[in-house]
Amino acid sequence: MKLYQPQVIFSFLSLSLLVFSLLSATAEAYCNSHHKKVLFKIKEALGNPYVLISWNNNLDCCEWNNLECDETTRRVISISVMNSDIVGPIPDAVGDLPYLQTLLFHKNPNLTGEIPIAITKLTQLRYLWLSWNNLTGLVPSFISQLKNLEYINLAFNQLTGSIPPELSSLPKLGYLGLDRNKLTGSIPESFSSINVTDFYLILSHNQLSGPIPKSLSNVKFAKIDLSRNHLVGDAFMLFRNNSPSDFSADLSRNNLSFDLSKTVFPTRLIYLDLNHNNIYGSIPHQLANIELQFFNVSYNRLCGKIPTGGTGRLQSRFDEYCYFHNKCLCGAPLPSCK
Ligand SMILES: *[C@@H]1O[C@H](CO)[C@@H](O)[C@H](O)[C@H]1NC(C)=O
Ligand SMILES: *[C@@H]1O[C@H](CO)[C@@H](O)[C@H](O)[C@H]1NC(C)=O
Ligand SMILES: *[C@@H]1O[C@H](CO)[C@@H](O)[C@H](O)[C@H]1NC(C)=O
Ligand SMILES: *[C@@H]1O[C@H](CO)[C@@H](O)[C@H](O)[C@H]1NC(C)=O
Ligand SMILES: *[C@@H]1O[C@H](CO)[C@@H](O)[C@H](O)[C@H]1NC(C)=O
Repeated sequence: MKLYQPQVIFSFLSLSLLVFSLLSATAEAYCNSHHKKVLFKIKEALGNPYVLISWNNNLDCCEWNNLECDETTRRVISISVMNSDIVGPIPDAVGDLPYLQTLLFHKNPNLTGEIPIAITKLTQLRYLWLSWNNLTGLVPSFISQLKNLEYINLAFNQLTGSIPPELSSLPKLGYLGLDRNKLTGSIPESFSSINVTDFYLILSHNQLSGPIPKSLSNVKFAKIDLSRNHLVGDAFMLFRNNSPSDFSADLSRNNLSFDLSKTVFPTRLIYLDLNHNNIYGSIPHQLANIELQFFNVSYNRLCGKIPTGGTGRLQSRFDEYCYFHNKCLCGAPLPSCK
C-alpha cells in the first residue's frame, strides 16, 4: 500500500520526467524517434521479414542494417533491401521518411503490387531503384513530381501501360531503366527535351511500337537500348548525337527499316547492335574509320562489300556471325564478293 502514497507517486513522476528529458536531450545524437516508429511500421507491413531482424529496439536505428542516416542530422536518408523475404506491396509508410534520397528494393520476388503514390512525399529522393521485383500496374506519371531524381530503375517487373511522357520533365534525370517489363505504346516525343549530358535510356524487352521520335536527335545519349521491342522505321536521329562521350546503341530485334548507307554515325560510337531488323542498303564506309568495340548487323537485308581500310576493325574484330543472314553482304569476314 505504501507504494501509492502521494510522495512516492510524485517522486516516481519526477524520476520519469528526468529520464524522459535526458532521453530527449540526447535524441538528436541518435536516430530520430519519429523515424524509428515509421521504420517499425514499414517492417510490419513487409511481413516482419528475417532480413530486417536488426530493426529492433536494442539498437539505435541508425545502426540497423539496410539503412543509412545522414552523419550530422541523423535523418534516415537511404533504405536498401535486396534478395530478401519481404512480402506485399511497398508500404505507404516509406512516404513518411521525408529525407530519403535512396529507395532501393532489388530482387525481392514477393514484393508485389503497385508503386504507391505515397512516394511523392519523398521530395529529396535521388535514386528510385525498384528492379527485379514483382511490381505490377503502371509506371506512374506521379514519379515526375520528384524533381531531384537522378536515377530511375524499374527493370524486371510486371509493369504495364505506356511510358509516361512527364518523366522527361525531371531536370536531373540521367538514367531511366524500364527494361524487361510489359510496356506498350510508343516512345514519348517529349523525351526530346531531356537535357542532361550522357543520358542512359534503357527500354529493352518490352512491347513498344511505332517509330522512334525524330526529335530524339536533341538528346545527348551515353547509351540507348531499345532492343527486343516492335519499333519500326528509321533510327538516324539517334546518331546525330554529338556528345563528347562514348556512345552505345542497341536496337536489335525490332522491325526497323531504313537505308544504312544514308546513315551518318558519330565518331564516339563504340557499340552498335542492329541484328534482327529489316535494315537495307550497304554498310557505309565511314564505319570503317570508327573505333567500334562491338558491331552486329546480322539478320537484316544488307547488301554489298563490307568496307575495308580505316581502323581495319570491321574485319579484324568482328566474325562472320556479326554479318550473316543478310541479303547479299560480301567480303571478309564473309566469303569474297563475286
Ligand atoms: C515468396 O512467397 C512464396 C509463397 O508464399 C514462398 O514459398 C517463397 O519462399 C517466398 N520467397 C521468398 C524469397 O521469401
Ligand atoms: C515473380 O513471382 C514469380 C512467382 O510468383 C517468380 O517465379 C518470379 O521469380 C518472380 N519474379 C522476380 C523477378 O522475382
Ligand atoms: C540545357 O542545359 C544547359 C546546361 O547544362 C543549359 O545551359 C540550357 O539552358 C538547358 N536547355 C534547356 C532547354 O533547358
Ligand atoms: C515488319 O515491318 C514490315 C513492313 O516494314 C511488315 O510487313 C512486317 O509484317 C513487320 N514484321 C513484324 C514481325 O512486325
Ligand atoms: C550477332 O547476332 C547474331 C544474331 O542474334 C548472333 O547469333 C551472334 O552471336 C551475334 N554476334 C555477337 C558477337 O554478338
